[in-house]
Amino acid sequence: MEYPPFYNPEYETLERSELEALQLKRLKETVVHCMQSPFYKKRFAENKLTPDSIQSLDDLKRIPFTTKQDLRDTYPFGMASVPLEKCVRLHSSSGTTGNPTVILHTQRDLDQWANALARCMWMVGLRPYDVFQNSSGYGMFTGGLGFQYAAERLGMLTVPAAAGNTKRQLKFITDFGTTAVHAIPSYATRIFEVMQELGIDPRRDTRLHTLIIGAEPHSEEQRRRIEEMLGVKAYNSFGMSEMCGPGVAFECKEQNGLHIWEDYYIVEIVDPDTLEPVPDGEVGEMVLTTINREAMPLLRYRTRDLTRILPGPCPCGRQHKRLDRMKGRSDDMIILKGVNIFPIQIEQVLMQFKELGNNYLITLETSDSNDDMTIEVELNQLFTDDYSRLQILTKEITRQIKDEILVTPHVKLVPKGVLPQSEGKAVRVKDLRKKF
Ligand code: COA
Ligand code: AMP
Ligand code: ZN
Repeated sequence: MEYPPFYNPEYETLERSELEALQLKRLKETVVHCMQSPFYKKRFAENKLTPDSIQSLDDLKRIPFTTKQDLRDTYPFGMASVPLEKCVRLHSSSGTTGNPTVILHTQRDLDQWANALARCMWMVGLRPYDVFQNSSGYGMFTGGLGFQYAAERLGMLTVPAAAGNTKRQLKFITDFGTTAVHAIPSYATRIFEVMQELGIDPRRDTRLHTLIIGAEPHSEEQRRRIEEMLGVKAYNSFGMSEMCGPGVAFECKEQNGLHIWEDYYIVEIVDPDTLEPVPDGEVGEMVLTTINREAMPLLRYRTRDLTRILPGPCPCGRQHKRLDRMKGRSDDMIILKGVNIFPIQIEQVLMQFKELGNNYLITLETSDSNDDMTIEVELNQLFTDDYSRLQILTKEITRQIKDEILVTPHVKLVPKGVLPQSEGKAVRVKDLRKKF
């Protein structure tokens, strides 16, 4: 059967002028709708703005930024623009020490999200005859349910393998004839490692042709290496829970920048210090406004992700702007094994133990093909040689940190004075992970 090239031709093939007219229409509707949210109602009043203040796309700049702190401050439901009874799902970030963040969804939001991500997967050539396997964590990780519903909507046979147990992932890949996998780039390397252990040749023994890689920064070299190892085409997928999840921006077959769906989002790039727009094509912090969300629209949300808009048209014909691959963050968030972690979460757990001092160092490393975190933390008193007491303490700290950040760290208790004392602001995180 011949399939058409576009999943949503009516949106994917819009000319710039049509796209911008649609954005303005949806922005105005969104701003009116946001007045149902106690947070935005107050924000607009404080800034002497009304929905009528927004008459052009340029007027967006009059609206103050929304930040992750705003989400924390209004935890759990203070940002909702609809009554709670209209919401059918929420996704929450990890963390129990500070307020986590919550994103609410109506059924319409979930449908639109699935549509956007199905559009992305169609764009890279996936079709109903494909078998799609998802190695994201399910539950609160938006990569789980997000890809699940989108792949089903596209019509693929979908294998909700979830994270971990790589041998089982490989059994699914070989037995079910999986043709496309969603994995974070570092996990793709782990998949290959286990293939080698089991004597599986991806080209000979599997039907794999596509990998969707995202959720953590990676280089072009890393992509090429994954492609070579597994004999696939690998496409960069960008998303964030605050915008819904995966499906915000995605590479097309050109593999040259990620199209951001401008019928869903308005993108700005600003200097993270001055918050002024940067000149076209320069790297800055990405700021996103949702224009197609019902439960919890966000206006000028500071993503903290650093990127730039690539100049020029894309040969694929889509006029939705292209983002360069992410260059890093303008805050101290770490992404390990596809999980977002703020060092303060670790600090807050450590500081609850009276046996521990104030000095600690987080090291991120790649051993074999696994990314891991080691936390060295100084003991409060002189080093005790009561080995069993230290063992119990180490186990308890590890457990509490895992509960907080969702990944298991190696905790090492060290004598006071052993860790380097840095002048001024302490360097708490050393990232020695292998970058290809
Ligand atoms: N995706 C899939 N599997 C992963 C993974 C990831 N991001 N990171 C690690 N794993 C695998 C490991 O390879 C290991 O399996 P194996 O030994 O059979 O190869 C298993 O999960 C456990 O890993 P380990 O490092 O021992 O566990 P942890 O306790 O530190 O981490 C995870 C726990 C893996 C469950 C947690 O990191 C997680 O849920 N990650 C997925 C996050 C995610 O889906 N992000 C995408 C959002 S779009
Ligand atoms: P989450 O809200 O858990 O989905 O995490 C979102 C964050 O993951 C983003 O803000 C980025 O920092 C990061 N991220 C997601 N996709 C990518 C990608 N393709 N490349 C680099 N970083 C990414
Ligand atoms: Zn393109």
